[in-house]
Amino acid sequence: MARIEGVCREVCDATEYVTIVTQGPDGPHLAGHWGNYMRIVDPGEVVVFPIGRFQRTEQNLRANARIQLMVASRKVQGTRSPGQGCVIDGTGEIVTAGEHLDLVREKFPWARGALVMRVGAVSTQL
Ligand SMILES: Cc1cc2nc3c(=O)[nH]c(=O)nc-3n(C[C@H](O)[C@H](O)[C@H](O)COP(=O)(O)O)c2cc1C
Repeated sequence: MARIEGVCREVCDATEYVTIVTQGPDGPHLAGHWGNYMRIVDPGEVVVFPIGRFQRTEQNLRANARIQLMVASRKVQGTRSPGQGCVIDGTGEIVTAGEHLDLVREKFPWARGALVMRVGAVSTQL
């Protein structure tokens, strides 16, 4: 288990969108989400998104729970120049009841479910 903290937390707070990668039967599957729809809870160990569609992502996670996120922002300083990006690796599932769904429905009542990711590793790219 790892945590989203420090510079990666700053990037998550600043990123405009999030790239979400799961593994499907034909290879990697990409989905997207807005950065400000992402909730980071359980001090940095769990990431939660409201889900409207995400049917293929859900199918993929049932077969293989591994999930990766990429976030990036020019507003966060990298090691050499303005701009930092992070890859967040872990396992995920889509839940349709419980505390994480309640959390996202506070702001996004349309959510049919919540994508809940448990963070396994966090790394910077720049
Ligand atoms: C920047 C961005 C924001 C998105 N926001 C949402 C969202 O708020 N809710 C949602 O259900 N899909 C959103 N999507 C669309 C999903 O990524 C899209 O439905 C995707 O194909 C996931 O569905 P799939 O797993 O069936 O492919 C967004 C996509 C992008 C690129």
